[in-house]
Amino acid sequence: SPSDPDLVERARVAKEKLGDKVFVLGHHYQRDEVIQFADVTGDSFKLARDAAAKPEAEYIVFCGVHFMAESADILTGDDQKVVLPDLAAGCSMADMATAEQVAECWDVLTDAGIAEQVVPVSYMNSSADIKAFTGKHGGTICTSSNAKKALDWAFEQGEKVLFLPDQHLGRNTAVRDMGMSLEDCVLYNPHKPNGGLTDEELRAAKMILWRGHCSVHGRFSLDSVHDVRERIPGVNVLVHPECKHEVVAAADYVGSTEYIIKTLEAAPAGSKWAIGTELNLVRRLANRFAAEDKEVVFLDKTVCFCSTMNRIDLPHLVWALESLADGKLVNRIQVDKETESFAKLALERMLALP
Ligand code: 13P
Ligand code: SF4
Repeated sequence: SPSDPDLVERARVAKEKLGDKVFVLGHHYQRDEVIQFADVTGDSFKLARDAAAKPEAEYIVFCGVHFMAESADILTGDDQKVVLPDLAAGCSMADMATAEQVAECWDVLTDAGIAEQVVPVSYMNSSADIKAFTGKHGGTICTSSNAKKALDWAFEQGEKVLFLPDQHLGRNTAVRDMGMSLEDCVLYNPHKPNGGLTDEELRAAKMILWRGHCSVHGRFSLDSVHDVRERIPGVNVLVHPECKHEVVAAADYVGSTEYIIKTLEAAPAGSKWAIGTELNLVRRLANRFAAEDKEVVFLDKTVCFCSTMNRIDLPHLVWALESLADGKLVNRIQVDKETESFAKLALERMLALP
């Protein structure tokens, strides 16, 4: 829906008043009404890298979700303040791994006698606590655009990987990009004693996948792939690696949100694309590429926004910008020093991947 012109004007005025003091980052899943005010847009990796790109900006307004704002705080200087326009913009996947559960898992691995062989690799979509755990135990962070590089690195450091918290990204990368088999992977369920696994199963596994998932991407099914291929002959199916393994296995192309955009930019006129990722992005791409005679459709028949990404709307952005312009610091995301130092270690290992 078109943005309220009054709010658009208020956001513009407040942003102009702030000038170089504010730097607005927008994830690709954000609403159009918010994206129009972003100084940079990107996938999780690009935004983590770009967060520190403007050290002169006193405020970084992060239009995305909580774990992204935490990562921006970790990677920027103490004098830069990260603001999340709505504190309720979390991520249900990140919430699926708590610090207590992960500490308990490490005890399980220790008791099974394998902790020393295990390198943790944590998806960006995790809390700062989980990133700190990862850094402390010699591991790295990854995003959907560098998961293979992160796993290559991790398997140089140890024989096994504990992959947190997205089972699908972990499994898809291991099987699709690293040549492992499904049998090399086991699923650790934090709600069951010993993760629901025997010590023998843990010892035999190469990839220990945390039982987390994205409920938005979880809605795409093998049927949606078959249906769209029937409906649109010659269609290319392009999905995000947070989708289930069977969906990824049936797709033609797999990658991060930035990869999805780049792939469509490079696609020839007349080509047809079904995209398996969040709907704000797919709608924006459908509109943009219609002008170049590229047909872009949503992979599923039902609507699937990320409800927490959508919490950042124009009214929240206006409120945040106007507050900052009035000298009121609101909704600051600040990771405590101890957590920050270990989480930073893990994030910097990611940024140093080849
Ligand atoms: P990317 O933008 O890194 O592809 O991640 C998608 C996502 O789900 C972020 O929450
Ligand atoms: Fe989290 Fe999924 Fe939303 Fe991404 S799309 S922020 S993984 S719930």
